[in-house]
Amino acid sequence: THCFTYDPGFTSTAACESKITYIDGDAGVLLHRGYPIEQLAEHGSFLETCYLLLYGDLPTHAQHADFESRVYRHTMVHEQMAKFFTGYRRDAHPMAIMVGNVGALAAFYHDSLDITDPHQRMVASIRMISKMPTIAAMAYKYTIGQPFVYPTNSLDYTSNFLKMCFSIPCEEYKVNPVLARALDRIFILHADHEQNASTSTVRLAGSSGANPFACIAAGIACLWGPAHGGANEAALQMLQEIGTVDRIPHFVARAKDKNDPFRLMGFGHRVYKNYDPRAKIMQHTCHEVLATLGIKDDPLLDVAVELERIALHDEYFIEKKLYPNIDFYSGITLKAMGFPTSMFTVLFALARTVGWIAQWKEMIEDPHQKIGRPRQLYTGAPQRPYVLLDDRA
Ligand code: CMC
Repeated sequence: THCFTYDPGFTSTAACESKITYIDGDAGVLLHRGYPIEQLAEHGSFLETCYLLLYGDLPTHAQHADFESRVYRHTMVHEQMAKFFTGYRRDAHPMAIMVGNVGALAAFYHDSLDITDPHQRMVASIRMISKMPTIAAMAYKYTIGQPFVYPTNSLDYTSNFLKMCFSIPCEEYKVNPVLARALDRIFILHADHEQNASTSTVRLAGSSGANPFACIAAGIACLWGPAHGGANEAALQMLQEIGTVDRIPHFVARAKDKNDPFRLMGFGHRVYKNYDPRAKIMQHTCHEVLATLGIKDDPLLDVAVELERIALHDEYFIEKKLYPNIDFYSGITLKAMGFPTSMFTVLFALARTVGWIAQWKEMIEDPHQKIGRPRQLYTGAPQRPYVLLDDRA
């Protein structure tokens, strides 16, 4: 009796109104609050982008200083949190730890659970942005058996994160400013991307009035999948599996074979039917990082460059409008910086947290907001009478 629009995968359904991010997938345009991603990545910082996404405008000097001090004030996690980490196996995937421990933040900040108070919503948002690097670094340190490194609030956001990941108490550690800037740029590129699967998950979870920590944990769980944020890890594994340039045609042929489930990871996008603008910046950043580290001949980079060249000239990829996406070059870059493959999606989650929380806030503050409740087209058995166990054939 009801008529619903059937739209699996939401390819043509707008679930909300939003003022945060604009994408023109055909033209390869990405704007945050109206500002092109290229300009934010070149001139801005990640924290400035966080402010922009949360408040709607770029900060003045005074607003920036105030925002920075509020973010840095919350970088510590409760000391009890350290005990959560030790409950996991050392070989746990750090994304599994992230899903659990970010959700567990709700157990510590009772004031942030009151989502009806705008002030508390902002405090919860800042807490999340501040604590993600600390929790991510702790997850990494735990899996490699090193002691946790506490935050250093005199360092900028990204340098502090690098220090928490790569310093050890018995040795002097100096953050490489070129790498810190490159990672900061990578964070900017990942900060938001409108209604992708994880952001939609955060909105759906939040639409029931769930607390912000639980909503972000839901977003992290969704991001982990290889079709979404897990693609950066999968893309690097694929490049490693290909190994040498001469093996590329074999893998390209597999990607085109409809009977083979293999896909070129880091290629294709639901919205971009043109070059992903983030992929271009990521490619430059990748070359910059390798040059800074003095890596001249990275076999993975050789495979990536050649694979991209072959795919961009291949009829299948041209016809299906499959271009490299943000995840194609990010893995090589992060690996060169010293991050293990299992941390790649964690870094994505760290950076996307601001997008998730900004979208969550926007949804809560939207007077049209209702609980998300998709309908379905039922295709199961028609009504039938119950049959007693003894009477069943
Ligand atoms: N390699 C080979 N063929 C592909 C690929 C690929 N990477 N991506 C799409 N196709 C083909 C697909 O087989 C389909 O062909 P046909 O129409 O003949 O059945 C056609 O292109 C359309 O693909 P789709 O799966 O219907 O498109 P979608 O919009 O549902 O999926 C995607 C988008 C990103 C999930 C998909 O392109 C993919 O799986 N890519 C690889 C994983 C990846 O890199 N994901 C990261 C996305 S960007 C960052 C993020 O979101 O986190």
